[in-house]
Amino acid sequence: MKKIALFFWVSFCIGWSGACSYQARHLQGSLSLHDDDKAHFYPSQEKRPRADFVAEGADGMVASAHPLATKAGIDVLKRGGTAIDAAIAVSFMTGVVRPHSTGIGGGGFLLYYEKASGKVVAYDFRERAPDKASADMFLNKQGNPKDFDFGPIKIKEASVNGHLAVGIPGLVAGLVRVHKDHGSLPFKELLIPAISTAEDGFIVYPQLEEALQERKGVMERFPGTKKIFFSKGLPLKEGDVLKQKDLALTLREISEKGSEGFYKGFVAQLFIKEMKKYGLITQKDLDTYQVKMREPVEGTYKGYRIVSMPPPSSGGVHIIQILNILEDDSIQIYGRQSLKSLHLLVEAMRRAYADRAKYLGDPEFTKVPTKGLISKAYAKSLRQNIDDENPTPSKNLVQASPVAYESNTTTHFSIVDKWGNAVSSTQTINGSFGSGLVVPGTGVILNNEMDDFSIKPGAPNLFGLITDKANSIAPQKTMLSSMSPTMVFDRQGNLELVLGAPGGPKIITATLQTILNYITYDMPLEDAVHAYRVHHQFMPDVLYVEKNGLALEVLENLRSKGYKIEEKNEGIGDIQAIGRRNKMWVGVSDTRSTGKPMGY
Ligand code: DON
Repeated sequence: MKKIALFFWVSFCIGWSGACSYQARHLQGSLSLHDDDKAHFYPSQEKRPRADFVAEGADGMVASAHPLATKAGIDVLKRGGTAIDAAIAVSFMTGVVRPHSTGIGGGGFLLYYEKASGKVVAYDFRERAPDKASADMFLNKQGNPKDFDFGPIKIKEASVNGHLAVGIPGLVAGLVRVHKDHGSLPFKELLIPAISTAEDGFIVYPQLEEALQERKGVMERFPGTKKIFFSKGLPLKEGDVLKQKDLALTLREISEKGSEGFYKGFVAQLFIKEMKKYGLITQKDLDTYQVKMREPVEGTYKGYRIVSMPPPSSGGVHIIQILNILEDDSIQIYGRQSLKSLHLLVEAMRRAYADRAKYLGDPEFTKVPTKGLISKAYAKSLRQNIDDENPTPSKNLVQASPVAYESNTTTHFSIVDKWGNAVSSTQTINGSFGSGLVVPGTGVILNNEMDDFSIKPGAPNLFGLITDKANSIAPQKTMLSSMSPTMVFDRQGNLELVLGAPGGPKIITATLQTILNYITYDMPLEDAVHAYRVHHQFMPDVLYVEKNGLALEVLENLRSKGYKIEEKNEGIGDIQAIGRRNKMWVGVSDTRSTGKPMGY
């Protein structure tokens, strides 16, 4: 019955958009105001107290993927630290309490908005390919993706599991650098909460148990990993205490010696000793690792200024490209869940991801036509090529037929401080528990970011994404990313939104749809984050829809147009966002995962 009522509501909206648009963005979240609309929102929020995922504050706000990380950040802000100081505390703590998602064995991107100068700068501290890496390193003699030979043991998928999958970690160098440039409190102080939580432990929560279950087959192969995450031969379970004593030692070393505490000294020695056995990374790779400053990518959408991460991320480019394609259509009049808006949205996604597959890669190794991709004129030509009635099969854009896989890791946080500075940062070890490998004696879980390269043209990665020569492996090259730390400024130039998400390729579409909901459909931030989402990534030619996210009739209509639809139990992305509401900051953590915002 609910679905039928919803269908009439949707049809009604298509006909009479004014009444259904969200005029009340600056009122409290609209769940209580629009009861009919409940079926449009991700359901897990109904099971949690609102204070768990929405917060307000006049002076500062942190929204991160774990309550302990948020607490570490807000405490720093309250002590007079800057958004960057808080970002350091949040980053190290997230690595401890979400070891399946991120950590010092990984890397990331960070956007920093400095209120006084009005500038946004982008830090790239993503992993890079070691000197000994080569274009075909993950292919066997037959030219197919190869397994990892771990002594006598074969572990499936060498680009995902074990030593070869590891890119040179960048997180520690990145955090030390942003602190040097914009921090104010002593670096050492900012690691204290992470060190004590690693030392004393924390209680394993359901999502972490799930991740351990999912990855146990690979993790149990590596003694350093097994020692920490298993007890009596079995992975830790919800309610167990996870202590990471070695990680605490490593973090203490970093807190005292900065970058040298990770890239030199006992941590580096143990890392290189492990790599010598089965991997490619050398001390020289660690010595020459450099954080890169990038020029953020910028666009406009209906008068708002969108600032996001440039290549080697594909995120900013394609968020702006999709917004450009949609800008001149009156999708707010058709309605958010109307067939017409959904069709246009999905076709725009398809075209952007087709370009991603072909053109995107490390700009220092391949010419990425960023200007063209984000130009309004190019978007117009792509819009003209969308058939208003019918989907364009992806194979008619480019031939390929990969298979998609799922993962649920990576982490994003957003921070605003009392001076109005802001940080938007996405950090990751890539897949769940990265390569599955912990360097014995250090507690460091190493990433499997090499899988984000194209191991051969047309071969899908962990996320079913295909890329081409532009993203082939080469020494010291950075693998392509979808991570999209983003900021939105209003027509007067004021900071309006700080946001981002994990989710592999779904990062781009989750961030995009939150912006569309907020700007185009005029939804309060809380609703913009929790409204159901869809996702299309060109290949595979499938439209992913969150379970129960679309009325049955809308689903049927999309199917009859020719869309192949897959309903997904898991959420598309996990947004951590901060928005401005009058003179207050509103923090919203997506109830699709374990995040929590706190303000003061
Ligand atoms: O950089 C990227 O695009 C991926 N390594 C991100 C991985 C990710 O978001 C995993 N979470 N589901």
